[in-house]
Amino acid sequence: MPAKYSINLFVVVVVTAISFYPGKHISAQQILPSLKEVFKKDFLIGAALSSMQIYEKDAGSVKLIPQQFNAVTAENVMKAAEIHPQWNVYQFEMADKLMDYAARYRMKVNGHTLVWHSQLPVFVQHMRDADSVMRFFVDHINTVVGRYKGRIYSWDVVNEALEEDGTLRRSIFLETLGEDYIVNAFRLAQKADPKAKLYYNDYNIEQPLKRAGVIALVKKIKAAGVRIDGIGIQGHWPYDAVPLQYIEESIQAFSSLGLETMITELDLSVLPGPWESNEADINKTARWNERMNPWPDALPDTVAQIQAKAYASLFTLLLKYNQQVSRITFWGVNDGQSWLNDWPIKGRTNYPLLFDRNSLPKHAFYSVIEIKRK
Ligand code: G3I
Repeated sequence: MPAKYSINLFVVVVVTAISFYPGKHISAQQILPSLKEVFKKDFLIGAALSSMQIYEKDAGSVKLIPQQFNAVTAENVMKAAEIHPQWNVYQFEMADKLMDYAARYRMKVNGHTLVWHSQLPVFVQHMRDADSVMRFFVDHINTVVGRYKGRIYSWDVVNEALEEDGTLRRSIFLETLGEDYIVNAFRLAQKADPKAKLYYNDYNIEQPLKRAGVIALVKKIKAAGVRIDGIGIQGHWPYDAVPLQYIEESIQAFSSLGLETMITELDLSVLPGPWESNEADINKTARWNERMNPWPDALPDTVAQIQAKAYASLFTLLLKYNQQVSRITFWGVNDGQSWLNDWPIKGRTNYPLLFDRNSLPKHAFYSVIEIKRK
């Protein structure tokens, strides 16, 4: 019998036997190996949490999350549109809940994200004068970072500030505040919370051109005498084209600048992409067609096995750099919650994570665990 069935059959047999033991009910998830335990000497293992998961209302993952992860990122609740919807109006309830949840389970929180051109509150989107943008910018960073001072582990201070060619993205911040907005964002965050780790986060920065743009940013921040602690490579890759060599080169390059590297939004999409390049800009979308949604009911085992090998190869590389890589965060817990079900095409069925729609482990989960047992 192929290994994959024997492992799952073993889990079923053990759980069934235990569940007949009087007064003892253990779910299949509870006897799983734990990612955070398996990699505890290597790097933090995190997940992006939805509002439902923060409120522990996602029944399938309530036990799984604290069992598997020792770091959490707010998928959405700390973004400006959610936390600062109007001038002088902040909505901290959800972010406070995340902080309390993480404290309860002794998880490190990565705040995502202070300065991003996307998900801006409506009152900012229409701003055109530098004074107003600057007032929002300073007030937002000081208020949000100040609220969690000394409690939050790290911040994605600036997210996705680069174009694919490594030049600065023409955002509202660049156009009104000038190039120094990035240095100023890190300066403000450093002052507002001297203890929090400060990161730059972006997608495709394993690619040489965009990597060069990150290096230029880091040198500017350091030359200004401002602190930056690490770089987040988001890690939204196709399962059949994970750019391992480029990832390795970026880890080496960022490490040579004295920075930690993280994979901050890891998911390996199994669906066809509508574009040649590996895109991850949430604001770009594509049109529906059947060919783009090949497996609406279930992921073929052959594809799941290839995805498992891709995850194993990636983790093997990251383990090789466990002194330089400080955290690996999955962009979601289970396939059902992934943003990739609705981007770049709405209403698809994607399978990018380690746990399926019932929050049960896929081949990819076991393949990642297994590389530490070799
Ligand atoms: O909360 C509202 C809800 O009240 C409303 O009914 C619903 C329908 O309009 O929208 C809900 O907000 C959605 C939010 O996710 C929470 O579900 C937004 O419309 C939707 O745009 C938002 O998508 C998020 C996206 O960033 C934009 O913020 C995705 O969940 C999230 O996975 C994705 O994550 C980004 C990272 O932050 C940065 N890197 C790329 C990554 C993928 O785009």
